[in-house]
Amino acid sequence: MQWTEKYSKRMERVTPSAIMEILKVVTQSQFINFASGLPDAELFPLEELQKLCDEVFQEEGKIALQYSAAEGYPALRSFIADRLTRQGEKTSADNVLITHGSQQGLDLAARILLDPGDKIIIENPSYLAGLQIFDSYQAEYLPVSMDGEGMIVDQVEELLKTQAPKLIYTLPNFQNPTGITLSLNRREKLVALAEHYNVPILEDNAYGDLRYGGDSLPSLRAFKGGHVVISTGTFSKTIAPGIRVGWIAAEKELMDRIAQVKQITDLHTNTFWQRVVYRYCINGRLEPQIQRLCKAYKKKRDILLQCLERYLPREVSWTYPEGGMFLLLTLPDSMHAEDLLKVAMEEKKVAFVPGRTFFPRGDGHNTLRLNFVSPKPEEIEEGVQRLAEIIRSS
Ligand SMILES: Cc1ncc(COP(=O)(O)O)c(C=O)c1O
Repeated sequence: MQWTEKYSKRMERVTPSAIMEILKVVTQSQFINFASGLPDAELFPLEELQKLCDEVFQEEGKIALQYSAAEGYPALRSFIADRLTRQGEKTSADNVLITHGSQQGLDLAARILLDPGDKIIIENPSYLAGLQIFDSYQAEYLPVSMDGEGMIVDQVEELLKTQAPKLIYTLPNFQNPTGITLSLNRREKLVALAEHYNVPILEDNAYGDLRYGGDSLPSLRAFKGGHVVISTGTFSKTIAPGIRVGWIAAEKELMDRIAQVKQITDLHTNTFWQRVVYRYCINGRLEPQIQRLCKAYKKKRDILLQCLERYLPREVSWTYPEGGMFLLLTLPDSMHAEDLLKVAMEEKKVAFVPGRTFFPRGDGHNTLRLNFVSPKPEEIEEGVQRLAEIIRSS
């Protein structure tokens, strides 16, 4: 059978990601890997999780291995709701549904809201796997430029006035791939505009807990008009991504719809791991774990920033992340990050992701994303030295 002829139209724009190709190669040998999207596995709380898994098996094994509600484990939903409320987002358990990672939350929201051809306002660049979701729903993009304060909200206003978008997708905290944070004023204005034009915002807050510099800023749901915001969050970056536990939070009316769609997608999130995560959270482990991560990630970010300053030519610039896992480097306009990557991988055994992948219209040819939390501190310095050599000789 010619399977490609059988695929639905929705699959037309679903193509293999360039990142997967890079990662296939770099995990094979002694690479310095700035390319991955992975958190630092050395910081996973292995022993605690193992102990809690044993406890769940022993104390509630039959329930933990049983089918459960599409909305998720009520106690975990309440924990998340209370935590969001303490952070300024008034939330009850009814506003929270547990997902298999926040990726699923993004997919559920897109599936409910988007028809083929619908226009979405996105940051330029944006999160690749988010764009891939929207591709699979055949959405059209309205990219908005970013500066040091995040997406330029004046451009959003223009698009809202003229383009009738269906959705605004934004990563306000330590954006992937730039590491940039949306400023307080722009947050307020963005939510007010979305409310005024009656356009939902999908707020992808995968990195919000990982702030290690600057002042904490409220989530978009916390602002006046925040009822138009659907937020996604995750334990992937704070506990571990393999457990696949995240959440989606929104108005109750929408949550009922999300629960129906969640049910037809996969019935419910893994019952066992929801219970393990809950025990981890209520035993006061989450906040110390976040502090531990922030301390380690800040150290690595600072090493990277110092090395970039020390080794790279002056024509290269980069973003300054106040948290999260990534920063974006901009090379002189005449350079192409994809050409650089070839040399980097073949001759210098160092990998990064060319930024073009994250720009839906294919701009950003001279940008590249660096993950600074996955490599070891000593690898960061060596990796930047190698990068500098390649940049200088191209
Ligand atoms: C911006 C962003 N959103 C969502 C996700 C999905 O994460 P998860 O499904 O593990 O919660 C990621 C993962 O890298 C991400 O970078």
